[in-house]
Amino acid sequence: MAESVKLNPDNIPAHIAIIMDGNGRWAQQRGKPRIMGHRSGVESVQEIVQVSGELGVKVLTLYAFSTENWKRPPIEVQALMGLLKNYLQSELANLIKNDVSLRCLGQKDKIPPEVRQVLEKVIEQTSGNKGLILNLALSYGSRSEMIMAVQELARKCVEDGLDYRQIDEELISAHLYTRGLPDPDLLIRTGGEFRLSNFLLWQISYSEIDVTETLWPDFRKENFLKSIADFQQRQRRFGKTGEQAQATKR
Ligand code: IPE
Ligand code: IPE
Ligand code: MG
Repeated sequence: MAESVKLNPDNIPAHIAIIMDGNGRWAQQRGKPRIMGHRSGVESVQEIVQVSGELGVKVLTLYAFSTENWKRPPIEVQALMGLLKNYLQSELANLIKNDVSLRCLGQKDKIPPEVRQVLEKVIEQTSGNKGLILNLALSYGSRSEMIMAVQELARKCVEDGLDYRQIDEELISAHLYTRGLPDPDLLIRTGGEFRLSNFLLWQISYSEIDVTETLWPDFRKENFLKSIADFQQRQRRFGKTGEQAQATKR
C-alpha cells in the first residue's frame, strides 16, 4: 500500500484506543457468515499492532469483546472465543519478537478456561517486554469496571482505614484495569456508529474522537495513519482558551 500520509513523529498519540466495529456488516455485504468478518478483522488487528509498534505508540487498547457481547448467539460467541485463542497462540512468537507486552482489561474469569489459559500464558510470557503495551479489552464493560473500583475503595474505607476524603481522580484511576497507564489520547471507532458502547467511560474524558465509516476488516495501515494525521491537526485545549493552550502545551 502506498504511504501517502506524513506524520509528525513528535506528536504520536501515546495511547490509542479502538472500538473495532463492523465485522458483521463487512461479512454480510459479501454474503458471508458474520464469523468471516471476525476472521478478517484479526488481520486488521495484526496490522494495526505492527504499525503501532513501529510508530512508537506506547499503549494500544483494542475493544475485542464487551460485557454486552455475551448476549450474542452462542455460536457467534464460541467462534469469537475460538478466534481469540488462535490469535493468541499464533501471535505469541511475533509479540515477543516485536517486544509487545499483552495485557487484558476486563472480566478474565468469564473467559472460557481453555482460552483463559492461553491468554494468561501470553500475558506472562510477554510481561517483560518493553515496547508497545497491547491491552485487549475482553469481557470489558466500563460500568462493571467502575463498580469493581467503587467496591474496592469502599472495602478499603471500611477495612483498611482509608479516609473517604482521600478518594480523588488519581485513586479512582489506580483502581481501574488501566491503572498506571496514561488515558487514551485518541479514540477511534470503526463502523460509523456515534456511540461509546460502554468503553472506557472514565478514561476517555479528554480523548480526541475519530469515528470512521470504514468497517474494521477494511481498517488497515493507511486508514490508521490518516486517523493519527487528523489527530495531529487538532488543538487539545483541556478547557483553556486556544491562546492559553498554544502557550502552555500540556
Ligand atoms: C465488532 O464487529 C466485533 C465485536 C463486537 C466482537 P460486530 O460483530 O459488532 O460487527 P457489526 O457491528 O455487526 O457489523
Ligand atoms: C462494541 O461493538 C464492542 C466491540 C467492538 C467489542 P458492538 O457492536 O457490540 O456495539 P453496539 O452493540 O453496536 O453498541
Ligand atoms: Mg457492532
